[in-house]
Amino acid sequence: MTQELTIYHLKDFEGLRKAGRLAAEVLDYITPFVKPGVSTGELDDKMDAFIIEHGGRTACRGYHGYPKCTCISPNHVICHGIPSYDKILEKGDIINIDVTVIVNGWYGDTSRMYYVGKPSIKAKRLVETTYATMMAGINAVKPGGFLGDVGAIMEEVAMAEGFTTVHDYCGHGIGRVFHGAPNVLNYGKRGTGVKLVPGMVFTVEPMVNTGSKDTITLADGWTTVTRDRGLSAQFEHTLGVTEDGIEIFTLSPKGYTFPPYKDK
Ligand code: MF3
Ligand code: CO
Ligand code: CO
Repeated sequence: MTQELTIYHLKDFEGLRKAGRLAAEVLDYITPFVKPGVSTGELDDKMDAFIIEHGGRTACRGYHGYPKCTCISPNHVICHGIPSYDKILEKGDIINIDVTVIVNGWYGDTSRMYYVGKPSIKAKRLVETTYATMMAGINAVKPGGFLGDVGAIMEEVAMAEGFTTVHDYCGHGIGRVFHGAPNVLNYGKRGTGVKLVPGMVFTVEPMVNTGSKDTITLADGWTTVTRDRGLSAQFEHTLGVTEDGIEIFTLSPKGYTFPPYKDK
């Protein structure tokens, strides 16, 4: 399928800012509710209500038949975990919550990791490395640069810790659509791929595994897990390329980066 790579006007960034901010506020809002004993279905309902109260709607429910407001992916789930009242969080779990909202026709897409109780040393190292991977990718985005630069540095940061990046899923163009060109791969070769210019808008969303990078999608058609059942983590921001750098639309208003999240 050929997708168009839309170059937005810098004045369009106002709409993206609003959508990105709401998506980030949802992740801030849900933070104190992520605790042992809560179900991922309950967390999803809370986020759904918050989004509606704040003038947005989820981009996920109904997207290719997806049934819920957000994706919640615990432990060995790489992405697209479907929230459920039967999935009760336990001490030691690590989970990704991925929120995509639509505000006035503009999309904002962001995800963070959360600790349920105290994580294992390896889980903590995975989560911190995944955040560093995303930030290294984002820091490689600049006008005149290449998407290959972004993928290359992300795979290097993850591999330096003995981890792998997922190759089967990637970041994506976003704006007035949910998923458009370009694909933002979690691997690559410097100086290759799409050349970055002001007005491009896309996500950077590396998935990092402790074991093999291989993925399997379960029979529900969504839940994607590590083939070896090792742990997986992910962070995601939506950003735009500007004349002299980038603007991240999904920064946390509370200043949250990676867990544990503490108010300043
Ligand atoms: N938010 C995911 C992404 O980062 C996509 C979720 S699609 C859904 O691109 F249908 F599963 F919600
Ligand atoms: Co995304
Ligand atoms: Co997302």
